[in-house]
Amino acid sequence: MNAKTVLVTGASDGIGLATARGLAKRGAQVVLLCRNPGKAEQARATVAREAAAAPPEVILADLASLEDVRSAADEFLRRWERLDVLINNAGALNGRRRDSRDGIELTFAVNHLAGFLLTRQLLPALVRAGSARILNVSSDLHRQSQLDLDNLLDPPRYDAWSVYADSKLCNVLFSYRLAAGLSETGIRVNALHPGVVATSFARGSHDMRSLALRAARWTLRSPDSGAKCSLELATSDALAEVTGCYFDENARPVRSSASSYDSDLAEALWKICESACGCSFDPPAGDA
Ligand SMILES: NC(=O)c1ccc[n+]([C@@H]2O[C@H](COP(=O)([O-])OP(=O)(O)OC[C@H]3O[C@@H](n4cnc5c(N)ncnc54)[C@H](OP(=O)(O)O)[C@@H]3O)[C@@H](O)[C@H]2O)c1
Repeated sequence: MNAKTVLVTGASDGIGLATARGLAKRGAQVVLLCRNPGKAEQARATVAREAAAAPPEVILADLASLEDVRSAADEFLRRWERLDVLINNAGALNGRRRDSRDGIELTFAVNHLAGFLLTRQLLPALVRAGSARILNVSSDLHRQSQLDLDNLLDPPRYDAWSVYADSKLCNVLFSYRLAAGLSETGIRVNALHPGVVATSFARGSHDMRSLALRAARWTLRSPDSGAKCSLELATSDALAEVTGCYFDENARPVRSSASSYDSDLAEALWKICESACGCSFDPPAGDA
């Protein structure tokens, strides 16, 4: 990964931090997108200790703000010419309903919409890289989604795991639609499930399912193991041409849910995201 630049969102903790460490070890210049300055500095120091080449850099942004997402992308474009790998990893399960700074349900705003806008804004640097890769960290929980696009931005009833599953289906729908749209550019786009990993995930949630997850923590994969699929997709020569796929925790391509292949659903979601972000995002349409 020498001379490659990689941006990882949610790099201050969990799978994102493990991914950033793994990439830095392999020689990449890693840019850590984090929201909390203190945690960002700790993560930067941790990654720096393992960096084989360029020291890591930090961009601060709260992905719950579309303005912050735009500023973060602008900062990246000012400081770097090209982006070889973008890893949209940041995500959360929120125990109670909250809204983003833009008045959008927070889980969807952070887990999906921020990645949509960040990818759009960074596209010039990804195109300049020649054969860039975009990874969207989804979850196998996307299979449980009963996605209702009419209520995505402002669900009338809030269920933490349902809105989480919806946001993760959105990640997969977006990945397939974007992969098709960018197929002529050399940019490869894939989605992945990192496994069930012992991280800070769901820390703010106290329902039975979250409590059970925390109780079973010792049986779960480690963050390093959870980073395995992202690292493989970011670095493997064998996967350099693979696009529009969904990968399991062992970096094997697997089928995602039936609705994730619904191109009408993907198109409608795309329009909602464009409208919520107040801008168009026009890679040419194509079959997923
Ligand atoms: N853990 C699992 O079992 C599992 C399973 C399937 C999929 N995933 C997915 O894996 C990804 C990483 O999750 P994780 O398990 O590593 O969780 P984690 O340990 O809680 O890490 C989440 C990261 O996202 C960041 N983040 C959250 N909200 C943010 C915001 N508004 N702005 C900027 N950054 C924000 C967090 O920043 P702070 O450090 O500031 O909180 C943290 O760096 C997520 O997309 C999650 O959905 C996880």
